[in-house]
Amino acid sequence: MMKKLNPVALALAALASASPFAASAQSTSNELVVYCSVQEEWCREMATTFTRTTGIKVAMTRKSSGETYAQLKAEAANPKADVWWGGTGDPHLQAAEEGLTETYKSPRLSELQDWALRQAEQSKYRTVGIYAGALGYSYNEPMLKRKGIAAPKCWADLTKPEYKGEVQVADPNSSGTSYTMLATMVQLMGEEKGFAYMKALHRNINQYTKSGGAPARAAATGESMVGITFIHDAVAQAVGGAPVVSVAPCEGTGYEIGSMSIVKGAKNMANAKRWYDFALEASTQALAVNAKSYQVPSNKKAPVPKEAPKLSDVKLINYDFAKYGSSAERTRLLAKWDAEVKVLPK
Ligand code: G6P
Repeated sequence: MMKKLNPVALALAALASASPFAASAQSTSNELVVYCSVQEEWCREMATTFTRTTGIKVAMTRKSSGETYAQLKAEAANPKADVWWGGTGDPHLQAAEEGLTETYKSPRLSELQDWALRQAEQSKYRTVGIYAGALGYSYNEPMLKRKGIAAPKCWADLTKPEYKGEVQVADPNSSGTSYTMLATMVQLMGEEKGFAYMKALHRNINQYTKSGGAPARAAATGESMVGITFIHDAVAQAVGGAPVVSVAPCEGTGYEIGSMSIVKGAKNMANAKRWYDFALEASTQALAVNAKSYQVPSNKKAPVPKEAPKLSDVKLINYDFAKYGSSAERTRLLAKWDAEVKVLPK
């Protein structure tokens, strides 16, 4: 039975809703500003679907993970973004530690894989895992054959003299992918040998790109023979018909927990939380394949794309996210790479 409403209360309610104060108290913003650090196509797919589902307009900027972290830091006094969606977990963890992002416990946390939840717990719920993917590389097979080089299988192969000028990877300052590589080498080989490897590799690098996924596209078009990226980025090129072969390096490799955070002081906080819950839904994560993105999704019910590299087939290191995502360690390693690797002649 419907409760009979008191006519005085009704009149007051009508008055309140007509008042400008009532409107501002309810936060009627219809906008959301998202910084997106995955491939452009997936950023667009997400924004379009979110707007279609909620009616909320999305202003989206695509930038690499390290760049986005730096931008959030620069904007901390006057935040422009509401949500940072995607990109490698380390800079999200650093942003969390530095208080650049906001605590939020989504009701969907219970639907997530352990590795995604651990990311949330480690950051005291300032970030969360949305996908995972292993690091590796891909090569352009016709180019390799033309040069008569044997198929590479290991990280060690890429430092051989026949690869001079043939390898592309991003700059670890701007790119989370490339920082994952730097931290992987340090964990896999120990710091001294890890840096010795990065220096040897430097001699063979044709270009340090800004974005982590670019070297996979360069290998696909033959602009570079080898591109170091997450393996799923190379798979996307192969699915698109490029003559590339992807490699899960024989020594073992690191991986990312792609993450999402809400910006501290977000102007559209209610909408940011709506995006957050939406992004953790299984049906939303299933959209990735439409944008040729083949990461392993964090929601247990989301289908793993059939093209996704099987993480069980990759020799994964026990990547220490707490350490390599900490502000002190990430800052120290990047400064060391700038001082000891980037400046070397080729
Ligand atoms: C690509 C990958 C993502 C990764 C991202 C990092 O988009 O598909 O899995 O998180 O690169 O981008 P960045 O430019 O920071 O290396």
